[in-house]
Amino acid sequence: MVGWESELRIRFKPGSCWLEEDDTDIPNRRILITGATGLLGRAVYKEFKANHWHAVGCGFTRARPRFEQVNLLDVAAVHNLIQDFQPHVIVHCAAERRPDVVDSQPDAASQLNVAASGNIAKEAADVGAFLIYISTDYVFDGTNPPYKENDAPNPLNLYGKTKLEGEKAVLKNSEGAAVLRVPILYGEVESLEESAVTVMFDKVQFSNKSANMDHWQQRFPTYVKDVASICRQLAEKRMQDPSIKGTFHWSGNEQMTKYEMACAMADAFNLPSSHLRPITDSPVVGALRPRNAQLDCSRLQMLGIGQQTPFRIGIKESLWPFLTDKRWRQTVFH
Ligand SMILES: NC(=O)c1ccc[n+]([C@@H]2O[C@H](COP(=O)([O-])OP(=O)(O)OC[C@H]3O[C@@H](n4cnc5c(N)ncnc54)[C@H](OP(=O)(O)O)[C@@H]3O)[C@@H](O)[C@H]2O)c1
Repeated sequence: MVGWESELRIRFKPGSCWLEEDDTDIPNRRILITGATGLLGRAVYKEFKANHWHAVGCGFTRARPRFEQVNLLDVAAVHNLIQDFQPHVIVHCAAERRPDVVDSQPDAASQLNVAASGNIAKEAADVGAFLIYISTDYVFDGTNPPYKENDAPNPLNLYGKTKLEGEKAVLKNSEGAAVLRVPILYGEVESLEESAVTVMFDKVQFSNKSANMDHWQQRFPTYVKDVASICRQLAEKRMQDPSIKGTFHWSGNEQMTKYEMACAMADAFNLPSSHLRPITDSPVVGALRPRNAQLDCSRLQMLGIGQQTPFRIGIKESLWPFLTDKRWRQTVFH
């Protein structure tokens, strides 16, 4: 495998920047993506690469062979990575994002979501990199939507609290950083369990068994390709305008409960949905969730930044590899 260090040795020329043969890459645009093995990070990595950035991704347990393996809790390793690569932009996607796991392992989650984020921000500031920290709509309590960037946060669960603490640590250590809050994400998954949206698909497909679906919490499912594009647009705008910093919101624009998402999946693949049962009571198990934490995205829109793929299109792109009825797949896609 050719890691980025050897790639850099090939590409960098002492004193100047790049070798002639790299003229397809734009030498002054280097981006580092943490969590590049995760759901969002993979999309961010692809988006920047496709737009001629020199992208380096890092992951942890799934890093090899494609990405750099760096434990973000290892302060020295993070320092070396950032000092050696000298990125212009860092998109920090890595986090523990499962509220129930944060509840069961609070110290480990806080180390990653708060301490490591603060440390990355400090390192980013040291090399003058623009840091985009990915945060969540769960910083709000969901009682008074839609939420603007300067509305008072009030996270209901520990996950939301750690992400909010992470935001504060980032903005304290890197004055010019950006916080990008997004809601529930879906996209091309390695397994259906990887996203809280796609995980419903087997219950949708196996229509011989009735399935209860939450119809209480109002969500705005957001396609990771859209978030990746927002990150790139924001980074590119920032390179022209240093005043771009602080907190931003981005979200899909369709309000849906999980029951409605499941029905939309069934509809997208022409599958039955009569076995799906809407549950309108607030959930009694697991971490507390906000009822409706809708994010107001007008700050980014006013900067001319945006991309919102319709749910029906994004979910079809994401789920078709998991369709069990291969005959249907062949008819529609080949
Ligand atoms: N998913 C959602 O619905 C959602 C909603 C709102 C906000 N967000 C935010 O969006 C961001 C991305 O979420 P996601 O769904 O893409 O997460 P994810 O798929 O769970 O990926 C988590 C990433 O963090 C990496 N990681 C975990 N521990 C690490 C460590 N000690 N050192 C280095 N890397 C480590 C993982 O690497 P390995 O897998 O290689 O170990 C993986 O790449 C997070 O900040 C999350 O809070 C997500």
